[in-house]
Amino acid sequence: MHAQSTAFANIALVKYWGKRDIPLNLPATGSLSLTLAPLRTETEVRFEPDLTADTLELDGSLASPRATARVSAFVDLFRQRAGIDTHAHVRSHNHFPTAAGLASSASAFAALAVAVDAALDTGLSTPTLSALARQGSGSAARSLYGGFAEMLPGQREDGTDAYAVPLHDAEHWPLHVVIALADKGKKEIGSTEGMEHTRLTSPYHQPWIDSVEPDLRDARAAIEARDIEVLAQVAERSAMRMHASAMAADPAILYWKPTTLAVVRAVRTWRAAGLGAFFSIDAGPNVKVFCEADDVETVRTRIEELPGVRGTITCRAGGPAHVTPTETPT
Ligand code: PMV
Repeated sequence: MHAQSTAFANIALVKYWGKRDIPLNLPATGSLSLTLAPLRTETEVRFEPDLTADTLELDGSLASPRATARVSAFVDLFRQRAGIDTHAHVRSHNHFPTAAGLASSASAFAALAVAVDAALDTGLSTPTLSALARQGSGSAARSLYGGFAEMLPGQREDGTDAYAVPLHDAEHWPLHVVIALADKGKKEIGSTEGMEHTRLTSPYHQPWIDSVEPDLRDARAAIEARDIEVLAQVAERSAMRMHASAMAADPAILYWKPTTLAVVRAVRTWRAAGLGAFFSIDAGPNVKVFCEADDVETVRTRIEELPGVRGTITCRAGGPAHVTPTETPT
């Protein structure tokens, strides 16, 4: 009834931006990502018969009722399967550089799925864990795997075929990602709200959705061939089209800051001059710059010289979510 786990964050090369069902958190399209070390969440779960409610400790402090309720609802999915109603203590720690403004929900729900499965000894398959992680956060479904993973949107109404599958492990192509931290700002519109607002008000929503499948096909081929030029084109157009669909919402959703655009422009210039680097941007102002291991120092130094950049975090392709040894025997 006690287990501990680790999961890494991931960054999408072909973006997910739109849902086909909100309660089950079903994506409207597939997506494709790279799992990122060292950005990780460590989670410990302990089911205790005496508890009258679930508790959540986040980075050493008791979490808000809202965060606790979200985790509790997630653990319910496992309790229902196991046919139990025992409550749990959940302790989670994000090993992300502080104030980086990086989303940790992907690693958090992947780690939680793995830890709860181990604590309850439910022995669920990785695709099933991925489908469950998806209900916590769409991108979490991809963090079950190391390296490159693809989220399948599925077709079933119950979402049982909406899970991620592994494409290649990190060793296939150990890409690096330098995260350029852009200006601090007030908290942006969250991903679920942003996706729904885009779906309801953006004339570019449907064209964006239609563009994803060809991008997935091209990205798979580029990764298979380790072709950074082709992957650069696919990943940049996927990020730009995702943001274009959100910017065309009414009122517009604009995640970028001046520094975001400065980094994007610089990366395009560097690549035109022969450097193998390309960018992606999520629901926030930071820019993630991909490159191969040999170029990572050049990329990092150049990014840090750009005006407005508050710092960088250097990541590399990471491994799968996994159970870690617990300190006390169960
Ligand atoms: O998993 P969510 O609900 O946080 O949504 C992720 C959305 C993006 O990060 C913008 C794109 C992606 O595919 O990760």
